[in-house]
Amino acid sequence: MNFRNVALVGALCASVQVVLSAQTLTVSNTIASGASIAQYISGSSGLDGPKMSPEINATSFDWWYFDAVAEDASMGLVVVFYLSTDLGFPFVPPLSALSVDIFATFEDGTLVFLPENDLPLQAGAATITTDGDGASGVWKGTGFEFSGTPDLSSYKVTIDNPLLGITGTLELKSVAPAHYACGLNLPGQNLEVSPHIGWANAIPDADAVANFTILGRPLQFKGPGYHDKNWGDAPFTSQVASWYWGHGRLGPYSIVWFDVLGKDGQEYVSSYAAKDGQIITASCSGIKVRPTGQNSQYPPVITSGNPQGFHIDLDLGSEGMLEVDIETNIALADAILYTRWSGNMSGGVQGGPTYTGVALYEEFKFEL
Ligand SMILES: *[C@@H]1O[C@H](CO)[C@@H](O)[C@H](O)[C@H]1NC(C)=O
Ligand SMILES: *[C@@H]1O[C@H](CO)[C@@H](O)[C@H](O)[C@H]1NC(C)=O
Ligand SMILES: *[C@@H]1O[C@H](CO)[C@@H](O)[C@H](O)[C@H]1NC(C)=O
Repeated sequence: MNFRNVALVGALCASVQVVLSAQTLTVSNTIASGASIAQYISGSSGLDGPKMSPEINATSFDWWYFDAVAEDASMGLVVVFYLSTDLGFPFVPPLSALSVDIFATFEDGTLVFLPENDLPLQAGAATITTDGDGASGVWKGTGFEFSGTPDLSSYKVTIDNPLLGITGTLELKSVAPAHYACGLNLPGQNLEVSPHIGWANAIPDADAVANFTILGRPLQFKGPGYHDKNWGDAPFTSQVASWYWGHGRLGPYSIVWFDVLGKDGQEYVSSYAAKDGQIITASCSGIKVRPTGQNSQYPPVITSGNPQGFHIDLDLGSEGMLEVDIETNIALADAILYTRWSGNMSGGVQGGPTYTGVALYEEFKFEL
């Protein structure tokens, strides 16, 4: 082999390496014994990749979440891919480490949650391929899969499960850059939004198109969409007393909020705002979220009824304080300990224009 060939082989290896940089993890529907270690500091890529190693033990969890809400807040869709037992996260089927679910809300307010509790949809195995910052996942045997680009610019969720009566796609085209709990998508960032809860927000806001047939009914709409993932190395309910999370689009702003009350009695927050697609703030401070109207007790307990809405103060730094009021339009899921809504937002920066938009948001409450 002459030097020219050595150089050529080197060049080929380099290009092969780029192609091989995608990594595929196969997870079987079994529970690891011993420690499952969480990644709580970001690396140089893999924002949306698996975060528990090994995936998963009986008390850890790692999930991928997708949603979209119609422009008039009347319809909604949520699809979640779980690696978790019901000890890790209580809302997944028992005796399974791999499952999926879908929440669909139709224009007339009908809410469909599938699979039914007595017919849990478990996967035999899952593969998750990480490429750049993006991930793609197949939960085998469920007909549920998602596919993301390495630069997080677009994602597609595909469901094809004739037995369950669901076919269709959710397409997300990102309009706001990814971020972590405390900052930008950079190496070395803190990934814990609250103790033992990891969070990576691949798509804070997207132009979404939902096109499904569910139990024979079409569910088709356009509106803001979203994708993130959470993970943790301790049971969710051992760490969280209550939490408010949500996202929405308000005029030129894409916003995401987290306001968590930990079991330690401390409040943990994360605030994100992008304006016309540029990040203005991504921080684990500078935001306060509180329930409003009826049942606006804070902190909420299990017996608190559903509030009518929320008020958010989101600090935009030199641009001022973004003050947002959310009025609930419809419940997309209501399981007492957990509620998810779509609603109308209005607000703006003091002295500036008032904008309106739609939001999708949730509450957990686990305290007596
Ligand atoms: C799972 O792993 C974590 C460490 O990340 C450990 O604290 C926990 O006890 C493990 N759970 C079980 C059931 O072994
Ligand atoms: C929705 O899906 C159906 C069935 O695949 C397809 O015929 C139709 O063109 C799609 N509509 C849109 C708006 O993409
Ligand atoms: C939210 O906005 C939509 C569309 O403008 C409207 O139909 C609906 O009544 C509003 N809901 C509330 C609770 O204000």
